[in-house]
Amino acid sequence: MNLQLITDYKVENYQSDSFRSDVLDGLKQNPKKLFSKYFYDKAGDRLFQQIMAMPEYYLTDCELDIFKNKTRELANSILSDNEPFDLIELGAGDAMKSTFLLECLTKENVDFTYMPIDISGNILSVLNEKLNSNLPELEIIPLEGDYFDMLDKAMSISKRRKVVLFLGGNIGNMDTEESYHFCRELRRKLNRGDILLVGFDLKKNPHTILNAYNDENGITSSFNLNLLVRMNRELEADFDVLNFQHYQTYDPISGACKSYLVSLTEQNVHIGNEVFHFEENELIDMEISQKFSPDDISKLARDSKFHIIDEIPDSKNWFVDSIWQVI
Ligand code: AVJ
Repeated sequence: MNLQLITDYKVENYQSDSFRSDVLDGLKQNPKKLFSKYFYDKAGDRLFQQIMAMPEYYLTDCELDIFKNKTRELANSILSDNEPFDLIELGAGDAMKSTFLLECLTKENVDFTYMPIDISGNILSVLNEKLNSNLPELEIIPLEGDYFDMLDKAMSISKRRKVVLFLGGNIGNMDTEESYHFCRELRRKLNRGDILLVGFDLKKNPHTILNAYNDENGITSSFNLNLLVRMNRELEADFDVLNFQHYQTYDPISGACKSYLVSLTEQNVHIGNEVFHFEENELIDMEISQKFSPDDISKLARDSKFHIIDEIPDSKNWFVDSIWQVI
């Protein structure tokens, strides 16, 4: 696959319009809401890399443990009948974990095409370059955009069997209702025999979870505040970042780990020609990182009409890659 062809699939600047309208809609709601999918501009990508390197942020290490040490098991569960397939990764990022699987499959001359989907064109081009030099024989089609738009694109590009990866606990960025809707929608797009591999962060000691999202050095805080900086730059907004403070919660019963920004004063913020009023201590709902029990996972699979064919936990049992097939 040469680079010229790859860039044909790139949807340039599709993001800026929905960014503005999502932000304006979200800030008109009560409570005010922003969408964490917009965290990942260039600075946001860098901050998330820093989060992944923090000792408190265990998620990446756990799933890396699975991909490094249980690669064979992962490969077996997705190969099934040895038919050629497309390996689609939703929110591929730098593909740090999936690279172990890609290496394993490439080494065994498995016939497959890797289709990484990400909202960040920046991270996709870094990934594309890295894989081209490290695994030159791998066929890659990077797809920049929203998950479902790009999944439709992937379905139209090729008719092969699909294996979809959704790693990193990214499903946690949806509330319960959204995740049910998401899995049903995904199921509707896939065909019988197709496979979905989802990474779930499991409920565990609540201190461990809260610490992962409330680091003392304030990296997670900067990660949240960076969205305000991005809005200032891209949407002609005038947020004073010093007037907002990160606040993190975890509810061990529901498994919802949530981040907010607190307005430290009564203030007006402009976005283009619109004005938004904040009361002192008013919140912006920024992100949810939902945690799951094994029971939560099987309910979700059952409801969306997938069949769980394998479950591969890390050595601490803090995280699980759950492998589902369309029945
Ligand atoms: C990339 C969605 C998996 O929710 O754990 C990390 C993002 N937010 N720290 C997560 C995140 C704050 C992360 N995911």
